Amino acid sequence: MSAAIVSLGRGIPRHILHNRQLEELLDTTHLWIKERTGIAERRVAGPDEDNLSLSLEACRQALRRAGMKGGDIGLIVVASATPDRLVPAMACTIQGELGARGPALDLNAGCSGFLYALAVAKGFLAEGLAERALVVGTETLTRIVDWRDRATCVLFGDGAAAALLAGCPEGEGILRVVLGAEGRGDGLIHAAGGGARMMASLRGGLAGEAGAFAEAIPFLGMECDGIYPFVRMQGRKVFRFAVETMCATLRELCAAESLSPREVDLVVPHQANSRIVEAAAERMGLPLQRFYLNIERYGNTSSASIPLALEEAARRNALREGDLVALLGFGAGLTWGGALLRWADGCDGGDPEEGGRGR
Ligand code: UT7
Repeated sequence: MSAAIVSLGRGIPRHILHNRQLEELLDTTHLWIKERTGIAERRVAGPDEDNLSLSLEACRQALRRAGMKGGDIGLIVVASATPDRLVPAMACTIQGELGARGPALDLNAGCSGFLYALAVAKGFLAEGLAERALVVGTETLTRIVDWRDRATCVLFGDGAAAALLAGCPEGEGILRVVLGAEGRGDGLIHAAGGGARMMASLRGGLAGEAGAFAEAIPFLGMECDGIYPFVRMQGRKVFRFAVETMCATLRELCAAESLSPREVDLVVPHQANSRIVEAAAERMGLPLQRFYLNIERYGNTSSASIPLALEEAARRNALREGDLVALLGFGAGLTWGGALLRWADGCDGGDPEEGGRGR
């Protein structure tokens, strides 16, 4: 028993922030950003938007396209590096809002999060623990970047996308998933904001707030001094890691299925930098046309980037029945992951509300 993507949906913020607007705010240019990253604009969540609202929009679209209701879903896995809050998991609220059943959990695997979540859901389905699952990648990265840091803030954007998974026979759907992590690279992409240490620091430490605790736990407040809450990244090192990892992951996936990378019809990579994708394509000897890129319009949306690109590729008919599709991700952790899928016609659904055929 395996699992297949039955339909996809997305939720993107209304507000668009173009590089030209950043020129007014930072010591940067549209030309620098476009040439070094491929990004022209990104979406920024407004005051009435957050991961929950964007994820719900994405899930509801995926359900509509599959002709299903929330009650048909028995598992929700949400990948995010920028959850709206610490507790409870966003997946639980999404489950409640949709009227879904079964387990619900969030996970954080940096920009590889969607692939990790896909592997978790596939495992649950294969074990018979659920019949259908929603796998969500969602981020509001613009809320955790330092808008004074031109080296990072120009890169990221907000958005959510969801994939509805159902069980299928082995050899169909998601053929294989590979995952990895190299924890010694944990400092290369880092954001301390929102964690328990940051919370203690915000209140001046537990010891300072509640005098009675000061004697028993005197170190709590001191330990938290000087935390920089926003995203820090050593871009060049991550760039090199990304190119190497994408190539190695595609090779590993294909070798495990006795296939050649040349047999892959479409690669949907994590959208971090179009130059990373160009370098990886060249190194693998694959034409760039075989890589789906939409980074120009969304920037790096971390956990959401692969499902957002996959949803768009399906909706724009870049995928055909039987196509071999590779999803490739890398990110904070450091983490990486890949999935090889056999595309089935109808994965893009066809939402009756969008004039599609429905399923
Ligand atoms: O999804 C998580 C994974 N993240 C990634 O994959 C990111 C991987 N890394 C990258 O994509 C690239 O390293 C960046 C786009 C982040 C940076 O590009 P780069 O070609 O590696 O530039 P750099 O960091 O080496 O900086 C080159 C120059 C520096 O100036 P000096 O020291 O040469 O005078 C920077 O200060 O570009 C400067 N710079 C900028 N200039 C204008 C950095 N950011 C900007 C900016 N506008 N926004």
